[in-house]
Amino acid sequence: MRSSRVFLSSSIVTIAALGACSRAPADVDWVSHGGDSGHTQSSPLEQITPANVASLKVAWTYHGGDARPDRSQIQCNPIVVHGVLYASTPGLKVFALDAATGTQKWLFDPSKAGAENNPLGVNRGVVFWEDGAEQRILFTAGQRLYALDAKTGASIPTFGTGGSVDLKEGLGRDVSNLYALSNTPGTIYKDLLILGTRVSEGPGPAAPGHIRAFDVRTGKIRWIFHTVPWPGEPGYDTWPQDAYTRIGGANAWSGISVDAARGLVFLPTGSAAFDFWGGNRLGANLYANCLLVLDAATGKHVWHYQFVHHDMWDRDLPAAPVLVTVTHDGTPVDAVAQTTKSGHVFLFNRETGQPLFPITERPVPPSDLKGEQAWPTQPLPDKPAPFARQAFTEAEVTDLSQASHDAVLTTLRATRTGRQFIPPSTEGTVIFPGFDGGAEWGGAAFDRPSGLLYVNANEMPWILTMIEVDHARQTSAAARGHRVYQLNCIVCHGPERKGDGRQIPNISEIKKKLPRPAVDQIIQHGKGVMPAFGLLGGNERADLVAYLFGDAPSPDDAKNPDEALPTIPYTTTGYNRFLDPDGYPAVKPPWGTLNAIDLNKGEIAWTVPLGELPELVKRGRPRTGTENYGGPIVTAGGLVFIGATKDEKFRAFDKRTGQMLWETSLPAGGYATPATYAVGGKQYVVIAAGGGKMGTKSGDAYVAYALPN
Ligand code: HEC
Repeated sequence: MRSSRVFLSSSIVTIAALGACSRAPADVDWVSHGGDSGHTQSSPLEQITPANVASLKVAWTYHGGDARPDRSQIQCNPIVVHGVLYASTPGLKVFALDAATGTQKWLFDPSKAGAENNPLGVNRGVVFWEDGAEQRILFTAGQRLYALDAKTGASIPTFGTGGSVDLKEGLGRDVSNLYALSNTPGTIYKDLLILGTRVSEGPGPAAPGHIRAFDVRTGKIRWIFHTVPWPGEPGYDTWPQDAYTRIGGANAWSGISVDAARGLVFLPTGSAAFDFWGGNRLGANLYANCLLVLDAATGKHVWHYQFVHHDMWDRDLPAAPVLVTVTHDGTPVDAVAQTTKSGHVFLFNRETGQPLFPITERPVPPSDLKGEQAWPTQPLPDKPAPFARQAFTEAEVTDLSQASHDAVLTTLRATRTGRQFIPPSTEGTVIFPGFDGGAEWGGAAFDRPSGLLYVNANEMPWILTMIEVDHARQTSAAARGHRVYQLNCIVCHGPERKGDGRQIPNISEIKKKLPRPAVDQIIQHGKGVMPAFGLLGGNERADLVAYLFGDAPSPDDAKNPDEALPTIPYTTTGYNRFLDPDGYPAVKPPWGTLNAIDLNKGEIAWTVPLGELPELVKRGRPRTGTENYGGPIVTAGGLVFIGATKDEKFRAFDKRTGQMLWETSLPAGGYATPATYAVGGKQYVVIAAGGGKMGTKSGDAYVAYALPN
């Protein structure tokens, strides 16, 4: 009796599940980057469920056709509006597809649009706006913001200058020679597009990260908020008096959320430039490293919270704030959740900025670099617990093999480690979680019914090593060029010019590969994700090329004077992952995780490793997790979908338990946040497979999955 009753009830569950999956959903869009204006990365769709997800099949694949071997990426979260999918290719072209079939409706190529022929960087998504019959797509490629007719892909000539706006204009300072572009789509509030930028964070001159609202119709700037305040503006006294004329950074590069009902815009900002030495910007440095909340209509300051005072670690806020509603002390509260590279989630009342769980300012160590003054305290939340380990201690050293363990231990003992907020040093300081999180730009997903926030994390240690720049006057061109290299190139290409063996090429033997003019061109105009160095004068470039080509001193050298130099005394040996001799992370696994955090209780509900490495699985080490880029989405149907891993897989997890229910191989790594939508009675899940990160191949595909008919 008993067992048949169990059988009966479980078969009822099955019938109910089948019933749910045969019910055709109404059309549901994925209207913006992050799914909605609050970046909840969630969908009410429930056709695909834990019971049927294993039968997902490829519904269509779209090829952009412009991937570049090993170097290009796609970081785009596609949007779907009125059954049309809009996204970008590795070469930053924008396209529209029939979302049911993947058939292309139009393609727009910004490199043929006249204004700028060499858009740099990546594109993380596009913006849809409509008013009556008028529909526009707004998007950025490199330093330009474009407006297109959403129905035809035709440029709108009355927008900006001939259809686009130069983002380097209207920042209140001449930044024409500096790096300033936009990778991440802005957000719509009424007829405004509120947009941040990506700017340089190196030791050289950098553009300020001011926030601007552009008129969607004309491209005109309607308001600007100075993230490095001008005289008379609040926060001005947290910098040296002339900082507003010379300090850059404090930019919002990772995604912007809007609470349209309250008329509030939520902006996460990055660190001030230079990332790792702030002796020329002493002070707390508002509004760097802030969740900045502005009146969306006017750009007026409403409230802010600063996560790192006087940042020296590149602790940019890496992800869009998530607008959530939680149950706190028994009542529903509209809140905003901010994830951090350090592996924390901070929760605030959306209107007042009041933290929902206590945050404690803790004393942190001083800096011993010349001219630097660390801020004495830094804030961390008491709850929820961090979703990534916080200290790389000897107990955490890799156990993959005795040889790896010993090699890592030797390096670890020679570096500064053991807690958060150890200042940069010339011996080397362990950054853990690393420069790429903790949390990253893929964002977090929020499930309103359960109050769970899903966030993927990296648990990769990196080592930050400062070196003194040789500011002595030099007579030989190559020696002058070495200094130009230290100040501009070393952070990526490294002290030995060997790159990182992944995305950043080895240029130590560049003279065997490229002629001098080609190298000069790359320095001037940039390439892919390498910035342009328009700020270097002709003499500096000539000196730099002399250094790269190993020129011997010559009598001609004296023709170029030794240029006036920035007063920055330090540079770094680059962004270096702390790896064992075999190239695996120096820390014990997991190296990548997926986490569910209960925002009602302030507790971690579950954590699972995300991804694995086939060669380690063969050695009996499955489920190590891998470094990962691109975020999760959550559905009412009960699933969390995420790509992101180095093993180039796309996976679905049970949103309640974290159990992996489905995985499939992508044509290249899915280093982007997926989207889900329904059209014609069918739910689809789509992800960009652009690869090109972590040493994996590049790809040009968007792959959409659906249940078989
Ligand atoms: C932010 C990181 C970064 C910085 C800073 C940077 N580069 Fe690059 N560089 C790259 C990347 C990434 C590529 C590969 C670009 C591509 O092909 O998409 C590259 C490519 C190059 C190439 C072409 C290499 C080849 O094999 O084709 C040269 C030459 C070069 N960089 C020189 C420099 C010099 C000189 C500087 C300093 C003025 C510099 N880079 C600064 C990241 C950087």
